[in-house]
Amino acid sequence: MVRTSAGKLKTTKFVFVLVGLLGVFLIIDLLWASSSSNSSSSYSYWAIQNSNFVVPPPLVNATLDAPIKEKAKKDKKDVVRILSATFADLPAPQLKWEKMVTAPVPRLDGAAIQIKNLLYVFAGYGTIDYVHSHVDIYNFTDNTWGGRFDMPKEMAHSHLGMVTDGRYIYIVNGQYGPQCRGPTSHTFILDTETKQWQSMPPLPVPRYAPATQLWRGRLHVMGGSKENRHTPALEHWSIAVKDGKALEKEWRSEIPIPRGGPHRACVVFNDNLYVIGGQEGDFMAKPGSPIFKCSRRNEVVYGDVYMLDDDMKWKELPPMPKPDSHIEFAWAIVNNSIVIVGGTTEKHPETKKMTLVGEILQFNFDTLKWSVVGKLPYRVKTTLVGFWDGMLYFTSGQRDKGPDDPAPRKVIGEMWRTKLML
Ligand SMILES: *[C@@H]1O[C@H](CO)[C@@H](O)[C@H](O)[C@H]1NC(C)=O
Ligand SMILES: *[C@@H]1O[C@H](CO)[C@@H](O)[C@H](O)[C@H]1NC(C)=O
Ligand SMILES: *[C@@H]1O[C@H](CO)[C@@H](O)[C@H](O)[C@H]1NC(C)=O
Repeated sequence: MVRTSAGKLKTTKFVFVLVGLLGVFLIIDLLWASSSSNSSSSYSYWAIQNSNFVVPPPLVNATLDAPIKEKAKKDKKDVVRILSATFADLPAPQLKWEKMVTAPVPRLDGAAIQIKNLLYVFAGYGTIDYVHSHVDIYNFTDNTWGGRFDMPKEMAHSHLGMVTDGRYIYIVNGQYGPQCRGPTSHTFILDTETKQWQSMPPLPVPRYAPATQLWRGRLHVMGGSKENRHTPALEHWSIAVKDGKALEKEWRSEIPIPRGGPHRACVVFNDNLYVIGGQEGDFMAKPGSPIFKCSRRNEVVYGDVYMLDDDMKWKELPPMPKPDSHIEFAWAIVNNSIVIVGGTTEKHPETKKMTLVGEILQFNFDTLKWSVVGKLPYRVKTTLVGFWDGMLYFTSGQRDKGPDDPAPRKVIGEMWRTKLML
């Protein structure tokens, strides 16, 4: 009897100690998590390298929306956290990639426009403290880089909106300078034949990375982030343009886009306007920082697809296979599809690190179906993409840390191509 009761006492004591220890652990865990998601944390814009969390191996076989049961943490309440798998790599066919000549400079958040056999590559960060102010040209016919020329001094260096009519390139605002500096509302038109720049009426207010397209004789600018770099904007404006000239003095207000935010793909196909993917929220300048140091804020990446047609009412189409952002120049139209190369998806639910996308996604405009067409040589965001003679090309952006770590690391200028068969 005595033995039993002493044993019971011991067990009770043991349980008490265990529960106490668990409590302490949970509090530390909480503090840790909240401090690591704090906006003024040491997350860098480039690579979130300061986290002490261990990165689990990539879940290459995770299927879409299949919930992954994390190791159950057995405390008194039996908390079981269910993680969404949308951050994971998607199963995708292997492709044969050929490495071409590397661009003259590495670029993050650059812009690109293809006109026939030439890919014009603009601006971008070289490092977080240095931005480019020139254009490089890749020639798909002889696979060389060349033809460098300067951008206007007043033109933004990243987060640009850009589109071409086949000769003129129409350019709207973006971020002026490195780190997380402010935006400009300046707009420009480049004549690619004469290399002459003109200005256009400025946007009513500056935006970061708004969706930009030419549609039915008008230059449309939608969404993006507001002047603080973070708040999603819903506004939509247009201005009539023709042969490299604005035909109006002011921008006209159009139907706002249902969901705002920067870094979306925007294309016209069969006379319909599509806006694909993107995010709400972005890095912001640290308050009071003299260099406008980037600090991480909450962001939500999404895979929404919106379309405008004759009704001039936004229609929602089937979403992307996973949320995808930083894809404004990462696409090409091939036959009846758009193909999108890389990007960023939802942050890792455990480590909170930014997660890059390592697949090529295809949306067929006729069937309205998404497919995953292939794997990239690595996961990469803000790629600049072209399509020529059956080959899909991508260059620039920021690649992952390695096959086992989808967080961003190196800014690249590499150029790759693969034969595409849709
Ligand atoms: C994951 O996929 C690979 C290739 O498709 C396959 O060889 C492997 O067995 C799969 N692993 C699991 C755990 O399903
Ligand atoms: C691109 O390369 C082809 C083949 O070498 C050449 O004929 C053409 O002039 C080049 N285009 C430009 C703009 O340099
Ligand atoms: C596009 O369509 C043409 C004609 O059907 C076909 O020959 C070609 O292979 C297609 N291109 C790709 C990249 O699938």
